[in-house]
Order: sequence, then structure tokens, then C-alpha cells
Amino acid sequence: MPKPRESRPRICDYEGSNYRTEFWEAKGRDYEDRVERVALRRLLPGGGRRLLEIGAGFGRLTNEYHAYEQVVLLDYSLSQLRYARQHLGGSDRYLYVAADAYRLPFRPGTFDAATGIRVIHHISDISAVFSQVRRALVPGGVFILEFANKRHLKAVLRYALGKQTWNPYDPEPVEFVELNFDFHPEYVQQRLEAARFETEKRLPVSFFRLASLKNRLPTDLLVGMDGLLQLTGLLYTPSIFTRNIALGASPNHLNTPSLFVCPECGGELAHDSATLVCRECGHRWAVRDGIYDFKAPLDE
Ligand SMILES: C[S@@+](CC[C@H](N)C(=O)[O-])C[C@H]1O[C@@H](n2cnc3c(N)ncnc32)[C@H](O)[C@@H]1O
Repeated sequence: MPKPRESRPRICDYEGSNYRTEFWEAKGRDYEDRVERVALRRLLPGGGRRLLEIGAGFGRLTNEYHAYEQVVLLDYSLSQLRYARQHLGGSDRYLYVAADAYRLPFRPGTFDAATGIRVIHHISDISAVFSQVRRALVPGGVFILEFANKRHLKAVLRYALGKQTWNPYDPEPVEFVELNFDFHPEYVQQRLEAARFETEKRLPVSFFRLASLKNRLPTDLLVGMDGLLQLTGLLYTPSIFTRNIALGASPNHLNTPSLFVCPECGGELAHDSATLVCRECGHRWAVRDGIYDFKAPLDE
């Protein structure tokens, strides 16, 4: 039975937000963007069949996934996906899916890789999302997960000096602004294990995320040094990238042509002009401007 809408976890809604222009373009975050790409390249497999990008946003990092035959960009925000589609194009190589990461609309074992970069930062129940990702992956599939680290050096120092109330060593997540969470590395690791993932690698990223340094030193130098420090395993940076392998037996639908099932009941979907109709519960889902919209059924 699907949960009633009002009892589902809250969602940090980026619909219509200026995340791209305000957070990235206007704020000189070239350093952060580049060091994240360094980490991603280190952790991504050489290539594969189909990759799911969870919380893809406007597609900032999608070009890193060029070695995959197909990339599915999933985000709750239609406006972010529209921008991504305008820039990446609407071929079969890229699919755009507006959906909630807590209720993925995919057949089990549809993907051999998934990524979630800067997205569990907004997730209150990470276990629920990890289970959804595990279900969408084939056994042995790779999940590259980035999370905001509550035990970063600045938080440790601030806590030691009495300038911060929350304890960076406490394993529980800290919600410092509504629906913005920082996590302890061991908390994330335990939740991944419980969802049947084995963490193979953890890379500390963004050692120099300080305006005073970024304004004074050349970005190339900072990126080069970050790239080296990522290999130290010192998990005291604001961002941590992990590579996790899907364990256990589960279906493999990598070569099944239809990816989608109903996010409400898991039923098979039939195409009906610009709509997908669930053969089990009857819900109808829209396809708008090349974006599959599984946020809410048309008939609700
Ligand atoms: C900080 S942005 C990161 C975007 C992209 N990964 C990047 O690094 O540029 C977070 C994204 O997660 C999406 N998001 C948040 N909660 C979500 C949920 N429950 N399901 C799907 N997407 C979600 C937001 O719409 C937003 O686009």
C-alpha cells in the first residue's frame, strides 16, 4: 500500500529555483566543481550500460557520464530538468525523469550504476533512498554517493572553541537549516551497509573550501593539491565521495526495453499517447516536453 502523501518525507523543492545562476555561476565555485569532477573520475567505472543520476539538477555533472550508453537524469524539479534537456538534448541517450528519490519509478535491476551528488544533503531518511537505489541496481552495480560531512575540520575547530552547539563527532545527522543535513561518515556507512551496499572507497574532497584561500591562490593549484589530498583518506573535509557496490542477488533488467513501473504500486505501465497508464492501480502519468513526470498522477 503506498503511503498517503501527507505522511511521506518532506522534499526540498527546487522548482523554479535559481540554483544554477546563484549558487554556481555567481559565486565563483569553479574550485568545488573541478575537485568534485576529479573525485568522480577516480570512482566511476570505465563505462557501462545505463546510469541513474539521482538529484541531477540542471545536469551540471552529466557530461562526466559519457562512457555510459544511456543516462537517466532524475530530479524532483521539472524546471531543473527542462534546463538540462535544453542543453544536453532529447535523444534516447538521455532520459529525463521528474520523480521523488523516495519512490523511484523503475523496474528492479534497471541500472548498472547510479550517482547521488549533493542530493542526500536534502534527504531526512537516507535509508529509504538507499533501499530504492539498491533495488534499481543490478547485483555488482556501482553507487557513487557524495555527502556533506558534519565532521569537517572547520566544524571540529568551531566546536572546540565553543562557537558551535552541535557536536561534529555525534553520529546523528545535523539539520542546520530546514531540509539541509550534514552527516557523520560512519552514519552514512552504516546506512549503506544496511541497504546491502559495500563501501569500497571514500575520498575526502574540497580541502580548500575557504573564501580566503580561493581568493588568494590560483584555482589550478588548489585543484591539483586537492586531487593529491583526496588520496590521504582524511575524512575531515566538507564533502566526501564514496564508491559502493550493490551486494546480494536481485533481478537484472539491464536489457529489458521498458524501464518504468508505477511509483505508487510497482505495476506495469502502458503507453497511451503522451501518458503512461498503470495496469494495476490505473494511475496516469504525464510525459511533458520530453520529460517523464512521476511527481503526481494526472488523475489525483
Ligand atoms: C543541491 S542540488 C544538486 C544537483 C546536482 N546533483 C549537482 O550537484 O549540481 C540538489 C538536487 O536534488 C533534488 N532533490 C532534492 N530532493 C529530492 C528528492 N526527494 N527526489 C528527487 N530529487 C530531489 C533537487 O531538486 C535538486 O535539483
